[in-house]
Amino acid sequence: MTKKILLLPGDGIGPEVMAEVRRVLDWFNEKYGLPLEMSEDLVGGVAYDRHGVPLASTTLAAAQAADAVLLGAVGGPKWKNVGYDKRPEAALLALRKELNLFANLRPALAFDALLDSSPVKPEIIRGLDLLIVRELIGGVYFGEPSGITDIGNGQRRGVNTQVYTTSEIHRIARVAFEQARQRSNKVCLCDKSNVMVSGLLWREEVAKLHEAEYSDVELSYIYADTCAMQLMGNPKQFDVLLTDNLFGDILSDEAAMLTGSIGMLPSASLGAADTKGQRKAMYEPAHGSAPDIAGKNIANPLASILSAAMMFRYSFGWTEEAAMIETGVRSVLDAGIRTADIAAPGKKPIGTKAMGDAVLQALNTSYSSARVTQKAALA
Ligand code: IPM
Ligand code: MG
Repeated sequence: MTKKILLLPGDGIGPEVMAEVRRVLDWFNEKYGLPLEMSEDLVGGVAYDRHGVPLASTTLAAAQAADAVLLGAVGGPKWKNVGYDKRPEAALLALRKELNLFANLRPALAFDALLDSSPVKPEIIRGLDLLIVRELIGGVYFGEPSGITDIGNGQRRGVNTQVYTTSEIHRIARVAFEQARQRSNKVCLCDKSNVMVSGLLWREEVAKLHEAEYSDVELSYIYADTCAMQLMGNPKQFDVLLTDNLFGDILSDEAAMLTGSIGMLPSASLGAADTKGQRKAMYEPAHGSAPDIAGKNIANPLASILSAAMMFRYSFGWTEEAAMIETGVRSVLDAGIRTADIAAPGKKPIGTKAMGDAVLQALNTSYSSARVTQKAALA
């Protein structure tokens, strides 16, 4: 069955990094024979320029109809004066909300070859393999009431609401527990239940669900501020870190820096499984649009390429092919091939396209050697 993929390159470095993802997907389609069908559309600032809105209804419909969406990045200084509800980021939030993508998986993996690129000491991060499971369509990002009101006397009042219900907490906690079972079987819930009753609800509901259905998984609790500190000092204590929308946003950027560069971090945003086990899904690099380096062919495309690997694994069940991408990326890094953000000391960094070339070459090499072994086995 052909998999329909909607590519939304977006703004800033989005188009450059997505061009390299496209080449990787074309390779799997043309050389490797995977049934992939790609289409492309505008999102974010570029969509605003064209349509006057950051997410056209036709684009949303295409995203609904796709088997998976791959997104580059949205936003940039060019659109800083557009109305708040039409800002580029609104497109991203609308896609998440409309596709019901409540589960955001953000793995932070320390590649051995990049240990020196991290600002944190190598012994603290060597072997790090952490998964942040972030609730993505609730909490303070979407809670009502929200807004700015005039309260007289030249005073204004700004409000956002942190709100979660039992079912919202249970569905994301399930994802965390299920992921943990496939990893080191540990979940740590991160909240501010010492200050926020919504955090207390998280703690009580996760504990209930744990006791009822997931008591085989080790569950611990941490306050978000302590978590920020522990992530720097002792990140390897964590396996799956379960948290809400806002803390997940903040802590995943922190976790990205542990691994050396935010240019390395992929992510998956998943909806609920339907009766056939299919989920709506969107994959995107965790880095933003980086307008300062856009159009210069220096951005790191690896986070986007690794996002395509996550798509293979989570949306299509193509675990071997996902591993091919990941192994390819690892071998490129091991060979000392680096973009500027992860440059090895004394070595000249390469550009975005050249990094794409390197990954394709790694794929070609592993593919032809696999075929040689396969032929030898058949002979
Ligand atoms: C992220 C980003 C977004 C978020 C922004 C661009 C709206 O920071 O995906 O982490 O806050 O969720
Ligand atoms: Mg963020």
